[in-house]
Amino acid sequence: MKPLKIISTGAYVPERVVTNDDLSEIVDTSDAWIRERTGIRERRIASDDECTSILAARALEDACRHAELDPQDLDAIIVGTSTPDAIFPSTACWLQRELGLSGIPAFDVMAGCSGFLYALEVASGLLAGQTARRVGVVGAECMSRVVDWTDRRTCVLFGDAAGAAIIEAGDGSSGVLSSNWGSDGTLADILCVPAGGTREPATEQTVANRRHFVHMEGSRVFIHAVKAMSRSVRKALDDAGLSGEAVDVFIPHQANIRIMEATRERTGIPADRVYSVLERYGNISAASVPVAIHEARQAGVLRDGAILALTAFGTGLTWAGAVLRV
Ligand SMILES: CC(C)(COP(=O)(O)OP(=O)(O)OC[C@H]1O[C@@H](n2cnc3c(N)ncnc32)[C@H](O)[C@@H]1OP(=O)(O)O)[C@@H](O)C(=O)NCCC(=O)NCCS
Repeated sequence: MKPLKIISTGAYVPERVVTNDDLSEIVDTSDAWIRERTGIRERRIASDDECTSILAARALEDACRHAELDPQDLDAIIVGTSTPDAIFPSTACWLQRELGLSGIPAFDVMAGCSGFLYALEVASGLLAGQTARRVGVVGAECMSRVVDWTDRRTCVLFGDAAGAAIIEAGDGSSGVLSSNWGSDGTLADILCVPAGGTREPATEQTVANRRHFVHMEGSRVFIHAVKAMSRSVRKALDDAGLSGEAVDVFIPHQANIRIMEATRERTGIPADRVYSVLERYGNISAASVPVAIHEARQAGVLRDGAILALTAFGTGLTWAGAVLRV
């Protein structure tokens, strides 16, 4: 076991709630379609003066408050996001600026919806190598800025939020029992924002062609998500020598209730172990795992000593899975 203690968690969701009925006023959709095909009832949308680093800063502050720490007490900050404030600098540095911090290293990990688990993997390596003693790991997304609000196939799916965890090596009674991660760049184009980077720089034409928004081949993504997440959880359980039954709380990336359920079925984890925030927040990408962890802790569902299974999948394609004793 790699020693790791989640000493606190935090979350921030924007105030504005957008329901499925609200969306049916702007695109040709319905509450019934969205609920049946995705399990989503409503999502939060950032205000005009909020961007990813602001959501991230509020979530990290919340985690610090729960640990009775000052953000200055952290040794490093890692932000998992695919909706950065800007091409550069990193969203983690914008977050530092928002919190008035300087000195400690802050950087982003871009792995789409797998961003938080990738960041956690990096952070646990920093702890194991004694490069850091206490790391703030954040998953934050402002998806509302990159979805095409005229495309009903994508705009109904996503939401904005941030979740954070403060981790230390701990006393050895908790940690990562096993973890794995992977990616497949050959499928980079089935879920991407094509323009606005160096591959396809912003021009009037790219804007007119709506290439700065999310492009997704939904059904292909669906199939890969189920395959990759179920495989990574099964591997994490096998490597930890545990059965699905041994899992107390299962938090898969929350993109679609059908993806979550198909993934769970293939892992042998009982249905009552799944903790979900999907219905209220939609797919909040890299924020989904940490927000769900935070809410599960707050609700008393995730207690010290529990076996927690995590998995995520996202653009890249990327995936990750982990089994922890918390
Ligand atoms: C996007 C997704 C919900 C679509 O569900 P689906 O059951 O595969 O539906 P389809 O794409 O086959 O579309 C079925 C029909 O519904 C229509 N439709 C799509 N979005 C709709 C909406 N919001 N409201 C009403 N109808 C919609 C389609 O146009 C299509 O109509 P057609 O048959 O006349 O062409 C599903 O593919 C999915 O969840 N994919 C993964 C997305 C995801 O999780 N991405 C992030 C991964 S991290």
